Amino acid sequence: MTKMNEIESRRTFAIISHPDAGKTTLTEKLLLFGGAIREAGTVKGRKNSKHAMSDWMEIEKQRGISVTSSVLEFLYDGYHVNILDTPGHQDFSEDTYRTLTAADSATMLIDVAKGVEAQTKKLFKVCKMRGIPIFTFINKLDRQGRDPFDLMEELENLLGIRSYPMGWPIGMGQSFSGVYDRMEKKLELYNPDNPKAIDIIQLTGPDDPKLDEAINDEGLVAQFREELELLDVAGDDYDVEKVKNGELTPIFFGSAVSSFGVQTFLEHMLKLAPAPTPRMSTKGVVNPFEHQGFSGFIFKIQANMNPAHRDRIAFLRITSGKFERGMTVKHVRIGKNLKLAQPTQFLAQSRSLVEEAYAGDIIGLFDPGNLRIGDTLVTGEAFEFDEMPHFSPEHFCAITVKEALKHKSYEKGLHQLTEEGAIQLFKTFNSYVEKQIVGVVGVLQFEVLEHRLKNEYHVDIQLERLPYSFARWVNGPVKEMEKFKKAQRNLVTDRDERIVVLFENEFQMRTAMDKYPELRFYENSFVK
Ligand code: G4P
Repeated sequence: MTKMNEIESRRTFAIISHPDAGKTTLTEKLLLFGGAIREAGTVKGRKNSKHAMSDWMEIEKQRGISVTSSVLEFLYDGYHVNILDTPGHQDFSEDTYRTLTAADSATMLIDVAKGVEAQTKKLFKVCKMRGIPIFTFINKLDRQGRDPFDLMEELENLLGIRSYPMGWPIGMGQSFSGVYDRMEKKLELYNPDNPKAIDIIQLTGPDDPKLDEAINDEGLVAQFREELELLDVAGDDYDVEKVKNGELTPIFFGSAVSSFGVQTFLEHMLKLAPAPTPRMSTKGVVNPFEHQGFSGFIFKIQANMNPAHRDRIAFLRITSGKFERGMTVKHVRIGKNLKLAQPTQFLAQSRSLVEEAYAGDIIGLFDPGNLRIGDTLVTGEAFEFDEMPHFSPEHFCAITVKEALKHKSYEKGLHQLTEEGAIQLFKTFNSYVEKQIVGVVGVLQFEVLEHRLKNEYHVDIQLERLPYSFARWVNGPVKEMEKFKKAQRNLVTDRDERIVVLFENEFQMRTAMDKYPELRFYENSFVK
């Protein structure tokens, strides 16, 4: 392979899945192939030890879930791979969504027995909104699962994406014998007694008699050939453009726990996945292959890793140019210069200092409180990247402070947590008494909010659950908006004074949409 330059070689992606599909297992195997870890199992262990100091992370430990997400990096075959880790539990937060804005592609991991599950669907929507390529890995083929054709249909019906199987399984569960690579015409044989000893046979095609020799089960081989023929005749054609635009997802099959199919997936994926992609900004498209200056945006802020200090780490996705430790950049929103000095780190294998990094990389910046989600840092001519959207919370509470005298600290704490993106704060609109409403994507954030306000700001709060499940940002012709504002109940404003309506259920939402056909209801704050 010709040597790629620093930017060409970057691949930055996130794994989207529902809990238990095998994300941790797959991540560990990928890191193993990259030589980044020596033994599987260290990803979970690493997470625990890293946050051992943190107080509110106790919640995470007690529940055995990951509240925060970090970045893992490794080298493979000349590629510099960055995996953006996304929290895997039901109680995931808006951070999970925002992390996807820093990725150039996504790997969608699906349990062969369960198909597309709730969390995958939500995360997929965000990827779809961004139009990034999505690669599908169907996992746990060593167990009996659903028919692959069935799963392909489900991808189309539930997610609206067509698919192209890059490989095709031969058998499943007890009869799982291997996966045929349709692109390279290779057969990867599965040996249940020793899954790690993977035998790869080069075939001339599915009719190659070597296939019959390798798999001693006539029925299975016949079925495989039939299915492959059906795919060739009735399946979608492979179309690179559609893959690039996220309209066609290449599917891979395997068993992450036995490393089966993982390397094949990794190699194909790295070739097909994009190098760092252009981003929109106030000065138009910023293309990392054309724009020489350094630029990046903050997509996540992680606070209070160590309760002894109020330190925060702001995660920056580099969008162009080269980062060098100690460099001075413009913090565009506040119009000041910022020296990215000593404490700049990758949060990768270990929290080590980073000397240089390139477009596609993620760096962690220690921040005393200057940065907020969506901020742009640049060298040279100042511009700002498009605003980072807010996503519809799913849980809502009315919030009040218990002791009125602490109002100042309370407001400060709320402001801080809103800037970090831990919560969204709304105000009631047109009500006699203005109330504050907190919205979160995962209910765990309420506990985090209570805990952090008490520990960091010494404020006790009262949260009262409200029955809403959806927030929609609303926009449309002025006259219609005025009518809507007068008549519609449950209106609030977000921190930028945009009108948002809260609904308890889909029925209520549909009714409002039908009643005001001229208005548009957005699932995120990207109100056009
Ligand atoms: P997650 O991060 O997506 O939540 O999933 P994780 O990797 O923790 O995997 C969830 C469970 O599924 C684990 O079992 C894991 O071993 C299992 N698993 C992952 N990949 C495969 C696979 O290819 N085949 C089979 N059969 N199982 C798989 P567990 O019993 O919950 O935990 P553990 O004690 O085995 O770690």
